[in-house]
Amino acid sequence: MKLISFFYNKDQIIFILSNLKTFMIDIFRLFKKITNEEVKIIDIINKNIKINSSTKILDIGSNSGLISKNLQSNKNNITLIDIDEFNTEPEIKFIKSSWENAIIENRFDLIIVSHVWGHFGYKGTQQESFSKMIKHKEKNGKIVLCYNTNSYFMSKLVDFSKKLFRDFQYDYFDEDIIRNYNKKEIIFKVKLKTRNFSSLAELVKILIILDDDKYYKRRVEEFLSSNLTKPEFEIEQKVIIIQ
Ligand SMILES: C[S@@+](CC[C@H](N)C(=O)[O-])C[C@H]1O[C@@H](n2cnc3c(N)ncnc32)[C@H](O)[C@@H]1O
Repeated sequence: MKLISFFYNKDQIIFILSNLKTFMIDIFRLFKKITNEEVKIIDIINKNIKINSSTKILDIGSNSGLISKNLQSNKNNITLIDIDEFNTEPEIKFIKSSWENAIIENRFDLIIVSHVWGHFGYKGTQQESFSKMIKHKEKNGKIVLCYNTNSYFMSKLVDFSKKLFRDFQYDYFDEDIIRNYNKKEIIFKVKLKTRNFSSLAELVKILIILDDDKYYKRRVEEFLSSNLTKPEFEIEQKVIIIQ
């Protein structure tokens, strides 16, 4: 009798993993579409920093590079770095690497580091990552940091997640790192709003990052429905411009 194999072969594993990645990218896009987060960040940068066609931009943890592409029409002056592979136009320089290990020769007029700080924090590399950014900033260049402040409902969600999950990532920044720098702070809010608590629990995966098989969606959904009157909450974020 032929034994039924309970194990997946290599091709099946690759298929499952690539579908999982596509699914996460879709949730990420949906999260961005609902919150309109990128539009707000782009608007804040445009209002506070003069950008022209010769402004050299470095976007760290760029994902597909949407923020930079909306700020700089001269694509030859855009450099994107991400730990994951993203296909971009040939004029744009894309470096597939972690920021910590990236070998960069140039200096930039504008360095953007948006919603990547939690990943650095998880690895304990926020300070070294920031020091490396300073080294790659032109004399009159600027660094734009963006992260969640984890105030209001987000603080409850993070506290709850710390009890429920042993190991997860969430966006935060240790502001002590920049205490001696000349800076401007802008606070803004976005709203995450869905049709029901089940969808909200799905989208919360973008804020509370851990492997899918370790995410207890039911427990998160219960927490959301017992702590919110409607399936929506605001996320306060901060943009800091280092002069
Ligand atoms: C939440 S997304 C933020 C994307 C974009 N910056 C934004 O604000 O919409 C975080 C991105 O950082 C990348 N990332 C995570 N750790 C990184 C690291 N150590 N160095 C470079 N990129 C990293 C991830 O692959 C992901 O694309």
